[in-house]
Amino acid sequence: MTLERRQFLQFSATAATLPWLAGCGDSASRVSIDTSLPVGPFGKASTAEEVTAGLDLSGRTALVTGCNSGLGYETMRVLALRGAHVVGTGRTLEKAEVACDSVDGATTPVALELSDFQSAVDCARQVIDAGLVPDMLICNAGINTFGELELVAGIEKMFVVNFLGHFVLVNRLLPAMQAKDSARIVHVGSSSGYTQAPAHGIDFDNLRGEKHFDAQEAYGRSKLANALFSLELAERLTGTRVTSNVIHPGLVKTNIARTAPGLIRTAFDLFGGAIAKSPAQGAATQVYVATQPALQGVSGAYFEDCNPVQIGGEHHMFDATMASRLWQEAQEMTAAYLV
Ligand SMILES: NC(=O)c1ccc[n+]([C@@H]2O[C@H](COP(=O)([O-])OP(=O)(O)OC[C@H]3O[C@@H](n4cnc5c(N)ncnc54)[C@H](OP(=O)(O)O)[C@@H]3O)[C@@H](O)[C@H]2O)c1
Repeated sequence: MTLERRQFLQFSATAATLPWLAGCGDSASRVSIDTSLPVGPFGKASTAEEVTAGLDLSGRTALVTGCNSGLGYETMRVLALRGAHVVGTGRTLEKAEVACDSVDGATTPVALELSDFQSAVDCARQVIDAGLVPDMLICNAGINTFGELELVAGIEKMFVVNFLGHFVLVNRLLPAMQAKDSARIVHVGSSSGYTQAPAHGIDFDNLRGEKHFDAQEAYGRSKLANALFSLELAERLTGTRVTSNVIHPGLVKTNIARTAPGLIRTAFDLFGGAIAKSPAQGAATQVYVATQPALQGVSGAYFEDCNPVQIGGEHHMFDATMASRLWQEAQEMTAAYLV
């Protein structure tokens, strides 16, 4: 076999794994629009600018975690474009400042390192002290690691960054958000919550790396945790003016594959544009759920491609018992940082 042909075959095989690495493998056939909730005219190709066309968000405050890259950057840019004051968080103040300075509109940079629960406490306190309690809280930041098990404070790293850090942030901001006329919390999850998570859902006896570790399964678990957090939060917020929903942005060409093996990264760079959404399209669902007037009061739902959806087959995305247990476990894991 010639070198060119072998390289082509290697790249083709790698390209086939791209949806998988973002947790977007074979999901489309299981998804149907939930017509019991408001359904809009937007879809897979819609952009964040399109879903907010004509909206005036002046006087509203948004907080977007992970504002310096990918979906978070585009979400901040478009919300600020529509008049919202956006608190953009970055792992360092400098990263958040650079990102905030590069978009038009009112923005405030704040440091938030999600693997450090004290940072989440400090971020919430800063936001409240500055009078910037969000009307829209978009829990967007996340990582997808590859390779060996990594622990943070004794807990698996993706579970900490993608879920527990946001758990602390949300709980710290919640009392102030409940005092507002209305507020929305949007969790950026992933279809990996039902395509890659452990078959039995959250494996509570393996969160500290006690048993086997598979990086993509752990990513799926962290994204299932996003969905269950949203579900339990919506339940706890019943009767209040604050809503909680979770979304999947689609497969989007961002920096999410930054720690993938070189071949996969190269393939994502080469082929990603052909099979993935652009960040402008990828940010549409979270921006839509955060701003769309027709979704006032909608809570506990799951969205893909700008619409509420149901998912067929075996999964735990709407498992209320698991969601309740996850809340208890998260409370224990972060007890020193909750109010
Ligand atoms: N792209 C996709 O295909 C896809 C599919 C499904 C779901 N998602 C979800 O979409 C969300 C946004 O990801 P993206 O695609 O926009 O990826 P991205 O371009 O890599 O952006 C991720 C953001 O999260 C931040 N972040 C990472 N680790 C953090 C930590 N420990 N503390 C605070 N912030 C941290 C990053 O900051 P630094 O740049 O400083 O590291 C960056 O701002 C994630 O939750 C991801 O799971 C993405």
